[in-house]
Amino acid sequence: MVERNKNMAKLQAGYLFPEISRRKNALLKKNPDAKIISLGIGNTTEPLSPCITNALRDAAEGLGTHEGYSGYGDEQGLAELRGKIADTFYPKLASAEEVFVSDGAKCDIGRIQLMFGSSATVAVQDPAYPVYVDGSVMMGQTDNYNPLQKQFDGITYLACSPENNFFPGLESTSRTDLIYFCSPNNPTGAASARDQLTQLVDFAKKNKSIIIFDSAYRDFIRDKGLPRSIFEIDGAREVAIEVGSFSKLLGFTGVRLGWTVVPKGLKFDDGHPVIKDWNRVMTTIFNGASNIVQTGVCNALTEQGLREMHATIDFYMENARLIKDAVTSLGYENYGGVNSPYIWARVPGKSSWDAFEEILEEKHVVTTPGSGFGPAGEGFLRFSAFGHREDVEEAVKRLKE
Ligand code: MLT
Repeated sequence: MVERNKNMAKLQAGYLFPEISRRKNALLKKNPDAKIISLGIGNTTEPLSPCITNALRDAAEGLGTHEGYSGYGDEQGLAELRGKIADTFYPKLASAEEVFVSDGAKCDIGRIQLMFGSSATVAVQDPAYPVYVDGSVMMGQTDNYNPLQKQFDGITYLACSPENNFFPGLESTSRTDLIYFCSPNNPTGAASARDQLTQLVDFAKKNKSIIIFDSAYRDFIRDKGLPRSIFEIDGAREVAIEVGSFSKLLGFTGVRLGWTVVPKGLKFDDGHPVIKDWNRVMTTIFNGASNIVQTGVCNALTEQGLREMHATIDFYMENARLIKDAVTSLGYENYGGVNSPYIWARVPGKSSWDAFEEILEEKHVVTTPGSGFGPAGEGFLRFSAFGHREDVEEAVKRLKE
């Protein structure tokens, strides 16, 4: 028999979202007529915009012709798309050669760990998107799970709560090699201000750490003064990698496409450029994103395409407003939902999973228990604004009843 990777054995329970599905299915088994509405996983629901579907169709049809057929492409992505991502999201902040197109941010976060190996030390916001911690555990960057503290020994948890305005006290934080940071944040919905991200970059510079900045929700920011990329902060190119995603921006949760930006000047302590290792990782264990999908996105990053993208984001942000109103009218202290599609609500006197079960059983509405995102999420629920309007309206009605 083959010995199990001992790092896998350290993981706690299942991945959060399959566990939520399991509980939803258990309810359906008991009550097959229940009309369950999901405000749980941030799964997009609105159709792709015409700019994209037309380009996807043309690219697919092209593959059926001699002239339009293409096989393997560059592992780093289509040159045109890399240029468009740089021009659209990083004008004067990053170049096309620093953009690596991929099949999604989550996959890139997993692959990024390979560059740092099992001895890298890691800090994460707490609560945080589970992939940062679970990926680090799989890589062997952590010790054992500490059931009393509900966290992994060896990982630095940067508590982010209403009390500290969802920004960690860096002055009392010890150095780690890597710092995962997500803004607008999943799950709390908090979008960090420029001075906060400046503190983060300064902290990383002082400690010679690398920030892995997750900007998957960048265009949900309504407040024009808030940064959408870590590279808007002076000095960030020396200390940060940014991971981006089209999942929530273009409704690509099923289509799949994301990117990672690695600045040319970012170096390991031996002076080796990080971008060279990232190129090595991507050319070795990734074979490039779908050519059809990349062509579709080239068409989405046009004036018309971006207008359509913003219209869909506005739609979800109206959902966020409706949900936030409902949660507020229930008397729940809540955050987010203004510059992000997530509303983070405190459920006083209950554990997150108890509140999750109660709302599921009584209202047939799926939420996400805050404790699934880390120990500081205990006592909170996350509501996602991704949904059809009629479903969101129905869920809001049930919540208010
Ligand atoms: C979430 O609900 O946190 C996200 O949709 C999950 C993901 O992006 O993988």
